[in-house]
Amino acid sequence: MKHFISVDQLSNEQILSLLKTAEDYRNSNFEMKVPVFAANLFFEPSTRTKMSFVVAERRLGLDNLDFHAGNSSVLKGESLYDTAKTFEAIGANLLVIRHESDTWYEDLEGKLSIPVINAGAGAAEHPTQTMLDLLTIYQEFGRIKDLKIVIAGDIKHSRVARSNAIALQKLGAKVYLSAVPGFERETLDFPYLPMDEAVEVCDVVMLLRVQHERHDYSVGMQDYLPAYGLSKEREKRLKKHAIIMHPAPINRGIEIDTNLVECKKSRIFKQMENGVYVRMAIITELLKNWGIINENTINKCQTIISN
Ligand code: CP
Repeated sequence: MKHFISVDQLSNEQILSLLKTAEDYRNSNFEMKVPVFAANLFFEPSTRTKMSFVVAERRLGLDNLDFHAGNSSVLKGESLYDTAKTFEAIGANLLVIRHESDTWYEDLEGKLSIPVINAGAGAAEHPTQTMLDLLTIYQEFGRIKDLKIVIAGDIKHSRVARSNAIALQKLGAKVYLSAVPGFERETLDFPYLPMDEAVEVCDVVMLLRVQHERHDYSVGMQDYLPAYGLSKEREKRLKKHAIIMHPAPINRGIEIDTNLVECKKSRIFKQMENGVYVRMAIITELLKNWGIINENTINKCQTIISN
């Protein structure tokens, strides 16, 4: 694996190997014996993904090259390709990119001699989110196979929906979708369930944010929670062992009752924590595959206590 772009490129063995490395990294910090520079090029807003990449990079001993699209030469019309080539030219060893285009990586294909990680592509792909979601499910159930998992909400505009549905199916889960009429996605061939049925049959309820910025559907949002979201009443009907997930940011009171965000069944903040470990695993895998680091250039230097 030279770049980390899509869940479509990953075999089950590669996914499981990365998850194992991520688990191993939970209590570890590292030190690079050689300078390694990572550039996080975010052209869309982000809190979790960007900052967990920063933490992952620092825990691996990498130097971050700070970039803010809003005060960069992007404002003078510089393209993603020229921005990426610039970072490569000045010495970046790794690019982490989020961009509003579904297919931004096609502009870079075969044109860079450093690894690229997809941190979000339009409504199409969010493969590192998928990895942290898979790790969270494994920690809970010890498997993915035969679990019943519903992905519920704004399926049409969600890059998480596509990446997760495909990866979960690949690993043997029974995947269902649940959406408001108009939020379905024709290109995802999975059975739909009404939310009332989904909460009773599923082991994992994976909620999605209504992506107001990608459409102008805001009418009736006050009715969304009781009709389609995870209300307190629906939470009571979840299976005893079921868990609640959400990639966040959360629209509290729309896709989920605000009191459920940190309830016993919620793994929402655990997902964020796991984001650091899976990103550490992906970064080291790529840097090793490119020969940028090897066992001699990275020192396990500190064990930290995780709660
Ligand atoms: N889950 C996620 O991608 O969050 P951010 O948009 O804050 O990175």
